[in-house]
This record gives sequence, C-alpha cells and structure tokens, in this order.
Amino acid sequence: MPTIEPTGQVLGATVHGLDLSQPLSDADFASLLRALGEHGVLRIPGQRIEARHLRDFSLRFGPIQTGMADRFRDAAVPEVGILSNIVEDGRPIGLADAGQDWHTDMSYTATKGFVNVLYAVKVPMRDGKPLGDTLFANMHAAYEGLPVEVKQRLAGMTATHDFNIFWERMRTRPGSARAPLTPEQRAKRPPAVHPVFMTHPITGRTVLYCNPGYAERINELDEAESARMLDFLFAHQLQEKYLHAHHWTEGDVLIWDHIGTLHNAIPDYRPDEPRMMLRCQVMAQQVFDPGFQQRWLKAA
Ligand code: SIN
Repeated sequence: MPTIEPTGQVLGATVHGLDLSQPLSDADFASLLRALGEHGVLRIPGQRIEARHLRDFSLRFGPIQTGMADRFRDAAVPEVGILSNIVEDGRPIGLADAGQDWHTDMSYTATKGFVNVLYAVKVPMRDGKPLGDTLFANMHAAYEGLPVEVKQRLAGMTATHDFNIFWERMRTRPGSARAPLTPEQRAKRPPAVHPVFMTHPITGRTVLYCNPGYAERINELDEAESARMLDFLFAHQLQEKYLHAHHWTEGDVLIWDHIGTLHNAIPDYRPDEPRMMLRCQVMAQQVFDPGFQQRWLKAA
C-alpha cells in the first residue's frame, strides 16, 4: 500500500512505495484518487518508466485527450505528448511553451479536463537548483476564501471559456512560433460554458472554476460587471496563500487535479538548458460518472 506524505503546504503530497512500471492495484488506485482530491497535486518520485507505462497509469483516471500535433506525440504511444525545448537536427522534439501562464486544462471544452500526468525525463539545473517549476493554486481554498457577498452574487452563475484567449496570450509573446488560429481551427474549438462554482467530484466540496487562461465572460452579468468580477476573481485566486511550487526531480511522475487547482509552467531556463516531460491529459467524464464515484469513492 503506498503511503501519502502531505507537503504541509496549501497543496501537494508525495506518494511513497509505488512503481508505475507495474500495474496499479485497485486498492492503490482508490487511495491515489482520494489523495488527489485532498491534496490536489501528487508527486510519485523515483520512477523509471516508458511512455506506455505513463499511458496505462493515466488511463485509470479516465480517457486521454489526444489533441496535440502528431509531431509532438510519442511515435509508438500517441496518447503521450512531449513537452520540451530540445531541438534535434533543427526540429523541436516537443511543444516548447505548453502551459506557461495560469490556466486549467480544457476548461474550454464541454467535457472538462480532470488530471494531467507528467513524467520528468530531463529537468534543467543551474547552480545545483532545478529550473522550470510548475506552480499550482488551490481552488478549494480560493472558493472558501471568497467574501460572502461574492459567493452569494455568483451562486448559480456560469462563465464562458475560450481556447483562443490563452492561444493569443502565448502567440503574442516575443519569440512565439504560434500563428493565429484560423477560423476553421476556432470553429473546431468553440467556447464552452461551465458553472463558476462547482462541486468537486472527489471531495464533494465547492471549488472556484474560473481561470485567467480561458474564462472570458460571466454570462449572467453585464459586460462591465463581468470584467470587474473576473479581474477580482483572478487576483483573488492567485494570492500567495493559495500557491504551491513543484520543484522537479528527474524521475518524478506528477499528477494533478484540474478541477481543484490552476497551474502555470515557469519558463526560467535557457534554450541550452534542456527540459523534457512526457504528458498525458485525462478528461473528466469518468470522474463525474455516478457509477465510477460509487465504485472508487463511496465504497471505501
Ligand atoms: C502543462 O501545462 O501541462 C505543462 C506543465 C509543465 O510543463 O510544467
């Protein structure tokens, strides 16, 4: 049975005693799922795994999204994406600027993202310290910390989330290789609407589900109040007291909950300081399924 050691911070725990090159038992999966709800970000250190192991582990949490360009996916295991600044023979081996601002994955689709699972293959180091941290913000705590009048004002309201907001933010950064999305590309990813406050499928507690990467409008407010409210929510949810930094070590597998957290990958390393992560993005339809919840969360 794995043991779970909380960081003692607002998010995060280390899972000891798991070898992800071996199949995960049902009991271990159930305990990981509950720990994920409670701690938001789980580090499973010391792994020596291949892309197929990462896929098999990730599939326990739900279906994997395979939207990345083919050239940035593992050739043999297409469910696994490659995030990297490494260039070989003049060609990038992975997506170099993934997730480099605050957001939560796939809030712009009707089916939300549930978890990301990253395996650290190469971590840039300088002066003995790791670079390329991933930062997280706790959306259970952010909801709880909202003023009562904001909780009351927004209860039952919805926000529209648009993929193009984050894309444009990345595209307009100096040195970006991204082109504007074509109308066809935008049509393939129409905006999605979700409640601003949501019941978390594992904890049963309320989370603030509204992130600066994709949320563009609170639909039940007029435009000016929506803009003011979004500015307030974005500043509120990113206060220091809600943040946790993950410092990577090669061999870490990190799994985090998109519904209860936001994240931001910090690009503080140079092109000659290689970083490489393998990633699976898991969608949330399964975790909201009552049968799944009954089997893995209520039966324990
Ligand atoms: C992501 O947003 O999935 C990337 C996170 C990272 O590379 O640290």
